[in-house]
Amino acid sequence: MGEVKVNLPENSYQIEIGSDISGKVRAYFEGAGFSSRALIVTDSNVGRLYENSVEEVLRSAGLDAETYRIPAGESSKCLAEAEKIYTRAIANGLDRNSVICALGGGVVGDVAGFVAATYMRGIPYVQMPTSLLAQVDSSVGGKVAVNHSLGKNMIGAFYQPKRVFIDLAFLATLPPREIYTGLGEIVKYGAIFDADFFAYMEAHGPEILALGPEALEHVVRRSCEIKAEVVGQDERENGLRRILNFGHTMGHAIEKETKYVRYNHGEAVAIGMAGAAYISEELGLINDTAVARLLCLLEALHLPTRAKGCTVDAMYADIFHDKKTVNGRVNWVLLDALGHAVVRQDVPEEIVRRSMARILE
Ligand code: GLY
Repeated sequence: MGEVKVNLPENSYQIEIGSDISGKVRAYFEGAGFSSRALIVTDSNVGRLYENSVEEVLRSAGLDAETYRIPAGESSKCLAEAEKIYTRAIANGLDRNSVICALGGGVVGDVAGFVAATYMRGIPYVQMPTSLLAQVDSSVGGKVAVNHSLGKNMIGAFYQPKRVFIDLAFLATLPPREIYTGLGEIVKYGAIFDADFFAYMEAHGPEILALGPEALEHVVRRSCEIKAEVVGQDERENGLRRILNFGHTMGHAIEKETKYVRYNHGEAVAIGMAGAAYISEELGLINDTAVARLLCLLEALHLPTRAKGCTVDAMYADIFHDKKTVNGRVNWVLLDALGHAVVRQDVPEEIVRRSMARILE
């Protein structure tokens, strides 16, 4: 069992990591002082497996907990689904001190967090992420959002959870591809922030892929520590937090060009990290050995490093429509060492295009 603290000027919170942690969950809700009415938001896949046991834990802690299921999938991350959750919250009598529990992957966490941020101008919420991607990324840091038909995550807020409970036992029922997508974000943390962590993953690939308890606990905890450290220094992404977008600029373009179907998020980010590494190499920031180590680790963890179905022209146009591009300036997150990131706005177009060409099949 590990605990990681997210230290913020206001609204600091704890991340609890372990296996079968329902005792910790119960003790927290018993002492948290929330109003008795609580709402668990989950989806049709996760709810089938886990909502009864989580309801049971919350009820044993004295809460009058009910569950609302959204349909599984990205299309639920929208205002229409949020409105249905508001309706259920009102109908169930949730007040300003009631808690929403987000039990699921990134979609559930983002939409439930968005509802918590806006219902009655903001009520408490607790993240219970069930996918590896959500455990190491989206459940931590307070980015909550829904999509608009013209763009992903366009409507949202920075709104921190009261606590994050990461139960590694949830991962046992995830399909392998869902594990790989989470590993994409985990490799990112090593590449941008911690050379030793990167080397650990190189040395322990098979144990990580087999979800060996020690290796799994280590990579999840270290990822959360790194995210907590970065968010603690820059909650609203005015500076340092941008490094968490390593691989995401080209990654988002790949997701868009392949209609969000061919690649899941972590896979697209893996290809985007390869692209950013090529830019870093062309600028002379890292050498070809560092690039080869990154590609080799990604491939060892069953992640792609080249994309099908995209063109350089389309991807180049996409990066200027990215939310992170401000006033036509792309903040490229690059590596100046394996384990350290830099943000650059001065990357020449021909280097970007050449690097994009290297990641296309
Ligand atoms: N997923 C990037 C961030 O939370 O800033």
